Amino acid sequence: MSQTRQFRAPPVISTGPGAATEAGAYAKRLGKRALIVTDSNLKKIGLLADVEASLDAAGVAYAVYDKVVMEPVVEYVDDGLRAFGEAGADVVVAVGGGSPIDTGKAIAAMARNPGKISEYMGAGKLGKPSVPLIAVPTTAGTGSEVTPFTIITDPATDVKMLISSPHLIPAAALVDPLMTLRMPRGITAATGLDALTHAIEAYVSVRAQPLTDTFALQAIRLISANLRRAYSQPDDLEARSNVLMGALQAGLAFANSSVALVHGMARPIGAYFHVAHGVSNAVLLPTVIEFSVPGNPRRYADIAEAIGEETKGLTVDEAAKKTVEAVKRLNADLQIPSLRGLGINVTKFESVVSKMAADAIASGSPGNNPRKASPEEIVALYRKAL
Ligand SMILES: [Fe+2]
Repeated sequence: MSQTRQFRAPPVISTGPGAATEAGAYAKRLGKRALIVTDSNLKKIGLLADVEASLDAAGVAYAVYDKVVMEPVVEYVDDGLRAFGEAGADVVVAVGGGSPIDTGKAIAAMARNPGKISEYMGAGKLGKPSVPLIAVPTTAGTGSEVTPFTIITDPATDVKMLISSPHLIPAAALVDPLMTLRMPRGITAATGLDALTHAIEAYVSVRAQPLTDTFALQAIRLISANLRRAYSQPDDLEARSNVLMGALQAGLAFANSSVALVHGMARPIGAYFHVAHGVSNAVLLPTVIEFSVPGNPRRYADIAEAIGEETKGLTVDEAAKKTVEAVKRLNADLQIPSLRGLGINVTKFESVVSKMAADAIASGSPGNNPRKASPEEIVALYRKAL
């Protein structure tokens, strides 16, 4: 096996207040006509204005596809691709949370690759580079602005298709805390916990490497120290900036070392019960950490320390276990309900739980977990989280 490790990231990551207003300048460098991919709500609340103004100022013509209203499905990709063609576009500007950015990535890829998006499920199947994509996140969570992944649900099978390719890495990520100030509390909590899950999973992943460790631990520190404040004081620019920087660094980490069992198990919950991605992760996180600690206690002890837990004088095992309680407290403070509290029907849950475990394993993410879980163990973990 090769002993080298690769670390990939967008050629440009611009961070700080005002980064979104650089969209026009980057679009002009990358193409002539843009398709903005977003959700209609963002346009309604005026969050698109700065990006549109910067495209106008740069003399880049654009059309807007704003039909992304929930987590991306195949239909959005097909419709967006049509809009891309009709606009004569050659660059995509994706503005929004993970859904518009993931949709934009799939559109940019399918603009240059033949067939249907579902033919590219899995790793490394996109043969040709996408058209350039500029990603402008408005949530602090998915890290999609820097990752080589997109997740598109196929409603025909209820499968959240994970598509992975270096061609899906955006050409530019414009990471602007001003774009996150109006994020509602529930979304601040869910996306922030998604980002924390990325950082934790990137750090314990069997594919972790020194470059991802640096970003993962700093992401855990930034998110743990600032997420409660961003939640309770939405206008606090410093807290928003720190959580966004944490989410970005978590994205850089898991883009290169992958997520693990929590994400593998969370995607089927989203697909079968339409629970938001961040919430699916958050409700599973303490249960899965508790299961996984014996696989690499040293790493979980580091995480406890990065979260801000007092670990002096504790054994590695004692320190590692503090991660479970710390995450439970954070969930409680951010008012994340239990799985049952989300209104999940127990009868339906029992009828699909084995299929969910199979889907989780098929996604490949559980293979990166420090402690491997059998299908029976995954079923037991789902029941425990319920
Ligand atoms: Fe995630």
